[in-house]
Amino acid sequence: MNKIKWMLLLGMIALCGIANAHPKQKMKEGILLVTFGTSYENARVAFTHIEEQVKQEFPEVEIRWSYTSKMIRKILRKRGEEIMSPAEALAKMGEDGVTHVAVQSLHVIPGEEYENLKKTVAAFNHMPKGIQVARLGKPLLYNHADNEVMAAFLSKTFSQYIDNKSAVAFMGHGTHHAANIYYAGFQYYLQQQAPQFLLGTVEGYPELNEVIKELKSKGIKNVTLHPFMSVAGDHAQNDMAGSEGDSWKSVLEANGFRVKVILKGLAEYESVNQIWIDHLRKAFNGLKH
Ligand code: CO
Repeated sequence: MNKIKWMLLLGMIALCGIANAHPKQKMKEGILLVTFGTSYENARVAFTHIEEQVKQEFPEVEIRWSYTSKMIRKILRKRGEEIMSPAEALAKMGEDGVTHVAVQSLHVIPGEEYENLKKTVAAFNHMPKGIQVARLGKPLLYNHADNEVMAAFLSKTFSQYIDNKSAVAFMGHGTHHAANIYYAGFQYYLQQQAPQFLLGTVEGYPELNEVIKELKSKGIKNVTLHPFMSVAGDHAQNDMAGSEGDSWKSVLEANGFRVKVILKGLAEYESVNQIWIDHLRKAFNGLKH
């Protein structure tokens, strides 16, 4: 090699050295799963389920959790367990060197919890010395396809509990937020599967009363109750299946129905989790754009 070529080569090495003196922060991806949370230890099996599936789908990526409910975080803190809010978790991930985060909402509908999370995630883009890009995955029911896939899954799974005298009633949470309409909307998708699939809510519309009216008009005698929430926590164990006089089980029995309860959260079903994971995949792929 002649002298000029050597000098050029050395020059290039020197330039590279200068460029590397201030390396750009290395891209590191992370996943944050966000749920309302539960203080019921036995309900958390649903979270373990979905985490396992997310791990299988993204084996290389670190997965963290956060709860949006301040009240539940407080209860857990008293028991010595610290679970972060979405903002705390995102700040900590940035501090730990994560630059790109896909946040997945494990909520059922795009209601208030989801909307708040959307604001938090938006705020964590271009964080100096923290997260550069944060994207949010849609909740379980967002577009037409989600509703169709979900209704078909429930129909397949619960058709064993229906006949001309037997129905399944799902208990959703319900909200004062305008997105409460998702529950009434999803009821339509369920009805297309079978008239014996009904959906009511604890804190929104339709209420149990509407469900009872439907059951009576269809001549139903036996009802299977199932939560329409990610976990079978407080609402499922008390408001749906509890022994108190105002639980769905008690009210239905007082109305002459024979009642069976299934205490399982939606996140205990692989096919339901797959809908959330498809939304997470979209958010994750969006990190690079
Ligand atoms: Co509630």
